[in-house]
Amino acid sequence: MTKAYKILCDYLKQVRKYTDFEPEVAIVLGSGLGDFAENIKKECVIDYHDIEGFPVSTNKTHKGRFVFGYVERIPVVIMEGRIHYYEGYTIEQVVTPIRLMKMMGADKLIITNAVGGINPDFTPGDLMLISDHLSFFIPSPLISENIEELGTRFPDMTNVYDREYRAIAMNCAKELSIDLKSGVYVQITGPNYETPAEINAFRLLGADAVGMSTACEAMAATHCGMKVCGISCITNMAAGITGQPLNDDEVIEIASSISDKFSKLLLKLIPQL
Ligand code: HPA
Repeated sequence: MTKAYKILCDYLKQVRKYTDFEPEVAIVLGSGLGDFAENIKKECVIDYHDIEGFPVSTNKTHKGRFVFGYVERIPVVIMEGRIHYYEGYTIEQVVTPIRLMKMMGADKLIITNAVGGINPDFTPGDLMLISDHLSFFIPSPLISENIEELGTRFPDMTNVYDREYRAIAMNCAKELSIDLKSGVYVQITGPNYETPAEINAFRLLGADAVGMSTACEAMAATHCGMKVCGISCITNMAAGITGQPLNDDEVIEIASSISDKFSKLLLKLIPQL
């Protein structure tokens, strides 16, 4: 057993002291979307600080806790606040909560985030279904001795954002009259926003939106056999596109302003996965 797996088993043991809840769907809430858990029938809340040794979010807009409960009859666990690579954690630590939620029982994952729009057809306030990602500007979260208990050494990444889930999500959006865009996400380390030259390069590489999370989480989830659905909120146009400087207040403001639309979509989607 690797050291990393032993640590995960210890975290699970600590979680089990608070609850034996077994989620089916795990949900990661991105910046400004933190209120989604208000919509579920809550069973239990565990603060990340209450799990000894667990990485905690240092980001002021991220609460930092697991919320367990039900959406209709579906048992879910929600991460209110994620860990980012730019906070100084190793990339392996960043994906620890994803692996832990899998070990709690979740084999389906919905990842949400705030992104800068690169595709000129996007407008701030749009939602984008992630069709695929570019992750080569960050280290792979799978570097280190492989955790055989979770997955294979060389996992396939052909269908990270599950095709069937994407069709279901598109259908849900259509029924709710939400204009859900679709596109390729590129993860950068942050915490700084990009330069206009970088955004031009990402566009040439095929990216539609840029953010500081998600791809590493989706890769770790795929490695351990979770099926993933990713949805981004376009909070701003990426650097250089409008000529306006970027700031995180704008990111939070736009993300919060669409949280109703986002919640409606998630509530419809979760029971259909
Ligand atoms: N760049 C990177 N991450 C982001 C952005 C952006 O423009 N907007 C929200 N998260």
